[in-house]
Amino acid sequence: MRSPQAPGGLELIELADSAAVAEHVAARLLNERRRRPERPLGLATGRTMEPVYDALARQLTLLPVAEGERLRERWLSFNLDEYVGLGRGDCRSFAACMEQQLVLPLGLDPERVRLPDGLAPDPRAEAHRYAAAVAAAGGIGLQVLGLGLNGHVGFNEPPCSPDMACRWVRLCPTTRAANAAAFGGDAASVPEWAITLGLAEILAAESILVVVTGSAKAEVLRRSLEEPPSIDLPASWLQQHPRVKVVADGPALGRS
Ligand code: GLP
Repeated sequence: MRSPQAPGGLELIELADSAAVAEHVAARLLNERRRRPERPLGLATGRTMEPVYDALARQLTLLPVAEGERLRERWLSFNLDEYVGLGRGDCRSFAACMEQQLVLPLGLDPERVRLPDGLAPDPRAEAHRYAAAVAAAGGIGLQVLGLGLNGHVGFNEPPCSPDMACRWVRLCPTTRAANAAAFGGDAASVPEWAITLGLAEILAAESILVVVTGSAKAEVLRRSLEEPPSIDLPASWLQQHPRVKVVADGPALGRS
């Protein structure tokens, strides 16, 4: 397989393996919090992000105590998405993942690690409320993204145009299958609906960091970088953002 060519404004950072990717991304997140504490981070969940949050917790302990405290106090992040029907008390919710992987290890105030409320009685209204909360906080500064096997970012499933805003979405069967591990391996148990920030909010971020590891993502990453932007591949719209860095390991770039 050819390795992807990064288009115009996009910077490709290749690192040896997922551990190196995690350290690099964690350092960038910490740096962003220290440099621009007034702008919220945009965060993702998923297997790709787990080692990143581990690295972040480790790196935070290496900061001088007062600086670590300042960073905790000023923390503000908005996650991309949440399953409809799952709340913080359900270990399969993204809210619970963030609590386990970020809030507890870093010692953050849970109120400052925000996600859509999967238990809101009206998911459409919750999507509007969440978009308004992001806007009221000044919009996302640095947005971190994982990459779905079908080219989704957040839960922006294909087909998806770049002007789609935060909304209530139905998940593709392939996405439910990809996320089945947290649901006992049963894709049918994965919620069918989710709330996600849209490409509109993602593309409005000041800068974007796409994190991609493992050979299973090589083909979709290559297509996202090389093919003309299209509704069939939501991640391909990232090519139109002026400040995007893709941090990938060798396998995700098709190196054996
Ligand atoms: C999930 C999430 C995304 C995540 C992506 C990749 O379904 N909605 O936010 O970035 O798909 O997940 P993973 O890192 O587990 O491959």
